Amino acid sequence: MELVPLAPKCGVEIKGVRLAQAEGETLDAIRSAIYTHGVALVRGQDDFTPDAHIAFAKRWGGIDINNYFPLTDEHPEIAVVRKKADQETNIGGAWHTDHSYDQVPAMGSILVARLLPPSGGDTMFAHMGEAYDALPQGLKDEIDGLQAFHTADHVYKEDGIYAQTDMAGDLRGQGLKTGAVHPVVIRHPVTGRKLLYVNSAFTIHFVGKTRAESLPLLHRLYDAATAADNTCRVAWEPGSVAIWDNRTTWHNALNDYQGYAREMHRITLSGEPLAA
Ligand code: OGA
Ligand code: MN
Repeated sequence: MELVPLAPKCGVEIKGVRLAQAEGETLDAIRSAIYTHGVALVRGQDDFTPDAHIAFAKRWGGIDINNYFPLTDEHPEIAVVRKKADQETNIGGAWHTDHSYDQVPAMGSILVARLLPPSGGDTMFAHMGEAYDALPQGLKDEIDGLQAFHTADHVYKEDGIYAQTDMAGDLRGQGLKTGAVHPVVIRHPVTGRKLLYVNSAFTIHFVGKTRAESLPLLHRLYDAATAADNTCRVAWEPGSVAIWDNRTTWHNALNDYQGYAREMHRITLSGEPLAA
């Protein structure tokens, strides 16, 4: 197994591994690479069928079922992240981290490329440990001890963000209510590294402040989070699989392939409680 960084501060390509067979020490090494680099790209996994995808996720740990994306009857563990050729909106097409609106947010995801456009459709990642480390000391002091409220309701509810797009008919869960409070700076549950844990999709306000009072500081943090040198780019090929850590990274699915379909299979891995 060989690790080749995707960018100096974010992401790694893992070579010489077959995910369909990975277990034991190999699985531990993959885990550790993802906790450190935030996201791992593994190419050439042509035998990573839906059944292999599910079996690998079960060897990793628990599976969280996503409440909003379409599921299939054959494989209800797999969420289908699909944009049809005639749709303009994609899923995840802005910087975010998944499931931060849950009390115990998902650890991460295993995303498999099933149908790709002829070009485009890459996914950007940004490393929240690097983002935190690079904050000026004054900003670190300002957010020390703060907590923030997260929800997905404005994104998925009946008159929410997706409902106003051509993705509306494809999503489920419009009636759900979500909400969770997390520290603004968390410690990675395994490595202990400090990570910035607010995101522009699901964080609404700091605890004890209104949305309007929170926005200026949130925007300073978001600008810092997506600084170009914290980011890396996953360029998909048939057989590519990416596994990411939602605590350590944000991601953004680029929507630059209008007129073509793209379909990915996602299994969401269960996480653990977050603490400052
Ligand atoms: C997701 C997501 C990114 C992509 O599945 O959570 O944001 O590139 N997808 O499809
Ligand atoms: Mn996502």
